[in-house]
Parts: sequence; structure tokens; C-alpha cells
Amino acid sequence: MQSFEEKIASRIEKLSKEQLLQLFSTMNEKKSTFDAVLSSLSIGLLVCDTDGFLYHSNKAAERLLSFSVKNPIPGDSFASEKPLWNLLEDQDIADFLKDFFDRQKAHASEEFTVQTPGGSPRILIVSAMPLVQEKKLKGILIQIEDVTERRNQQTLLRRMENLASLTNLAASVAHEIKNPLGSISIHIQLIQKALKKARETDGMLPDPKFTEHYLDIVNEEIERLNKIIVDFLFAVRPISATLVPMDINKLLRSMAEFIKPELDSKKIELQLDLMTKSPDLMLDEQLTKQVIINLVQNSVAAMKDGGILYISTKFSDDKIILTIADNGEGMDEQTLSRIFEPYFTTKANGTGLGLTMVYKIIKETGGDIHAKSFPGEGTIFTISLPVPQKELRLIEQKED
Ligand SMILES: Nc1ncnc2c1ncn2[C@@H]1O[C@H](COP(=O)(O)OP(=O)(O)OP(=O)(O)O)[C@@H](O)[C@H]1O
Ligand SMILES: [Mg+2]
Repeated sequence: MQSFEEKIASRIEKLSKEQLLQLFSTMNEKKSTFDAVLSSLSIGLLVCDTDGFLYHSNKAAERLLSFSVKNPIPGDSFASEKPLWNLLEDQDIADFLKDFFDRQKAHASEEFTVQTPGGSPRILIVSAMPLVQEKKLKGILIQIEDVTERRNQQTLLRRMENLASLTNLAASVAHEIKNPLGSISIHIQLIQKALKKARETDGMLPDPKFTEHYLDIVNEEIERLNKIIVDFLFAVRPISATLVPMDINKLLRSMAEFIKPELDSKKIELQLDLMTKSPDLMLDEQLTKQVIINLVQNSVAAMKDGGILYISTKFSDDKIILTIADNGEGMDEQTLSRIFEPYFTTKANGTGLGLTMVYKIIKETGGDIHAKSFPGEGTIFTISLPVPQKELRLIEQKED
């Protein structure tokens, strides 16, 4: 079907001067409305030709991206003198766009933190996609979205979640200290009773089993209380992760060497199944080691008669999936549903904080952790770790 403009164009010679003027004014009005809509959008829009020369931008785009002063944005319908990436102040965004045009990608989107002229950092998501009209590639549309507020809200939510888990933790501590306190109270009463009885009879000190022995129990209970407090502080202490680029495979290999003798002595076979080359992940070395050690220790404890400890890494859905699995005793559903709770343990000497810590560290690194378990068969922990955008781009380039 012919568009309105096409119909007019085919008959333009037949129009009178008045009709032409009328037409021009209608079209101008249409354009003004269109411009007003574009400039009132909070999302920034840039339109480039297929070589990256800019020919339209809206107000939000100009506000969100600072264009260098030397290269002012052209007015309507004039393409810029230089490609878009040479007009931009922010080098990272410029590199991203240049890469998009160079490799003629179908779609690309990336997150950037930029400094605004006002000084406050903003988080922008820049997306580039082809602008197709009547099945023909007319140019490239670039969309810039400011997600700073949304991110701030997410952080706030996470803090609130932390606060909620802190309340839970405090409740568990209150519960934990009840028993030792009760036991201390009973044994002090027993000592008082023994002393009173001794004074009322021969005045001699009571038998040590009524004094020293009880005092030993009181001491033990005080020690237990102290441990609960120390563990509590350990669990609530904010983790200060120092994230640096790290090869997770290398870390796993060096840890495997370290734990091998213990596994051998317990008749546990270690199967390492690592991806050929892992992209560098942003991790805290000490904390990541702690995660792996905790999971391995749990697996070892679940394989009292030996078994297989399986550790693998693979790349999937833009993430690295780290799996730690065992064919030990496994857990029933009820146990499984509580493993990340602070102080939840089924072991005589467990603190029940191992997996709480693991969970906290993984969340702090921006990852996720899930567990599956089958009683009598074994347990699988799956950890997904984010791959930095830069590394993802390298992977894509290689795939190309
Ligand atoms: N691989 C596993 N196989 C079977 N059960 C497990 C496994 N990992 C964890 N669990 C269960 O989850 C519970 C909680 O684990 P968590 O590591 O938090 O504490 P813990 O191991 O009991 O104590 P700690 O880590 O201080 O030694 C364990 O007591 C155990 O019942
Ligand atoms: Mg543990």
C-alpha cells in the first residue's frame, strides 16, 4: 500500500500553490509533534546511518551522553562529520559502539558507569540495534537508558533482605544461648545447695563431685556461649570482598592438589572436569577458597565410606557454572530446605555456619547457588558466577 507521502509525491505537480503551502504546514506540524515526543522521552535515542554517522539525537541522549565540545552534534537531517564513537566523551561507550559497527552485529547491549557533568556517577545501559524500514537496513538505532535509580533500589532491597536475615540470625542466637544459660543456672543452684548443706552439717567442703565437677560444667557452658558469640560475629560481619580478575580453573587446580592427600586417605576419588579456558572472573581469592573448602568439607563428611567428589566448570548463558557434587549420604527434602540457615547443622560438632557463609560470599560476588540432593545417592551444589562484560565480548569475538 502507498503511504500518504508517496501518494502526495506522485501528484505533487498537480497541486496548487495554496495546497502545497497547506501540505507543508501539515507536515511541519506532524514533525513538531514527532520531535516533541522524542525530546520528552526519558530514554535517549540516537539514529546513525549504517557507517555510524549520527543524524538524529533526542534531548535525553544528549543529556546522558556527554558529547565532546569540539564535535558538536549536527542539526536535524545533517549527518555528523565524524562517526559517533569519535564524538563521545566516554571512551568505553565509544569502544562499545565502534565494535558494534565494525563487526556489524545484530544487537548489542552493555552497562556503563559514567560521570555526569554534575559529578554523580550514573549507570547507563546502551543498546544498539538495526533500524529496518520496509525490509531495508536504514541505519542503526542506539538507545540509552539510565538505570541508576533502579539499581539503587535493588541495593536498598538487598540491604533490607540482609537486615531481615540478621533478625533471623539474632533469633537463632537467642535460641542457641538458651540451653547453655539454663545449664549454667542449674549447676550454680546445685553448687549453692551443696554448700548450704555442708554449712548446716559438719562445715566441711562438699565432695568435689558436687563442686569442682559442677564448676567444670559451668566453665564448659561459658565456653560454648563464647563460641556462639564469636560465630555470630563471624556470620554478621560484612564481607569486604576485594574482587580481582581471576582464573577459576587455576584456583581449583591448586586447591585440588592441596586437598588430594586428605581425599586419598579417605578413599575419595577426585574428578576434575574443567572447561578448556575459563574467562577471568571478578573474585576475591580468599573468600572463593573459603567457599570451595566449605563445600568440599561437607562432601567429605557425607562420604564416610569413600566415594567420588566431582568438581566441574563450564560456560553457559553468559555465566560460569561451578559444580561440586558427591555421591555421599545425601539429604532429605526437609534438611535440604534448611542448609543455608545460620546454625542449622546435623553434625555433633558442626557450627551450621559453613553454608551460611558460602551463600553470603556467593551473593556478594553477584552469583547464585543452588543445591540438589537425593538421600542415599548424593548432593550437587551448582554455583553460577557472572562473567564480566569485557570477557563476554572477547568470547563473542572468538566465536565470530
Ligand atoms: N554435601 C552434603 N551432603 C549431605 N549433607 C550436607 C552436605 N552439605 C551440607 N549438608 C547438610 O547441611 C548442613 C549444614 O551445613 P553447613 O556447612 O552449613 O554446617 P555444618 O557442616 O553442619 O557445620 P560446619 O560447616 O561448621 O562444619 C550439614 O550439617 C548437613 O546436614
Ligand atoms: Mg559445613
